[in-house]
Amino acid sequence: MLKIDNLRKSFGDTEVLKGISFELKEGEIGVVLGKSGAGKTTLLRCINGLESFDEGYMEIDSIKVDSSNNREGLRGKVGMVFQNFNLFPHMTVMENIIASPTLVFKEDVNQAKEKAMKLLKMVDLEEKADAYPHELSGGQQQRVAIARSCALNLKVLCFDEPTSALDPETVKRIVEIIKRFSSTGMTVLIITHDIPFAEMTGGKIIKLVDGRIDE
Ligand SMILES: Nc1ncnc2c1ncn2[C@@H]1O[C@H](COP(=O)(O)OP(=O)(O)OP(=O)(O)O)[C@@H](O)[C@H]1O
Ligand SMILES: [Mg+2]
Repeated sequence: MLKIDNLRKSFGDTEVLKGISFELKEGEIGVVLGKSGAGKTTLLRCINGLESFDEGYMEIDSIKVDSSNNREGLRGKVGMVFQNFNLFPHMTVMENIIASPTLVFKEDVNQAKEKAMKLLKMVDLEEKADAYPHELSGGQQQRVAIARSCALNLKVLCFDEPTSALDPETVKRIVEIIKRFSSTGMTVLIITHDIPFAEMTGGKIIKLVDGRIDE
């Protein structure tokens, strides 16, 4: 589902990613570990198509991307749940979830709503469909952000530090939800500093050290 081959990326004279290769199967969970500045967010941004890279290639759900090939093909395939969740503050939970499917991908509103309710069930928030983001806790907002990403029929979902502001109970819940989605065939890639969380996901550990993967 996700294949990264010899990915290299520099900012100016600083080479941040020095030839990264790994693969994740459909429904597999990968966990990227590494100290601050190791290049974890940069790697995720490359995989999302938010950042270009200098060498190497990626294959995502049979879409091939190399350093010169444009990254448009990744849109709709790879999603990212950002640290601050980026929910639209003036929209309800339901409106947040159906915005892209209906406005960008022109899905039928009723069908999109039906799917959104299923996703809200999967993240245990069906009773919050009409709430606004400011009425939700941080953990709940994060679950809405996950549901919103999953409404786009993505193949790969990435998380940058999903547990950094969460208590242990909420972390457990996020692990359950991530596993729930991965068992439907979604490939998940997570950046974290949180080793117990990494272990709980049961995912493949990808350790970044000095721009390379440490076996
Ligand atoms: N847009 C940019 N321009 C220049 N340098 C950058 C840019 N983005 C990241 N870097 C540099 O690349 C290196 C890796 O940054 P990155 O954000 O990927 O680290 P990280 O592993 O995610 O760290 P953290 O755990 O602190 O989030 C850092 O030295 C950073 O300064
Ligand atoms: Mg980072």
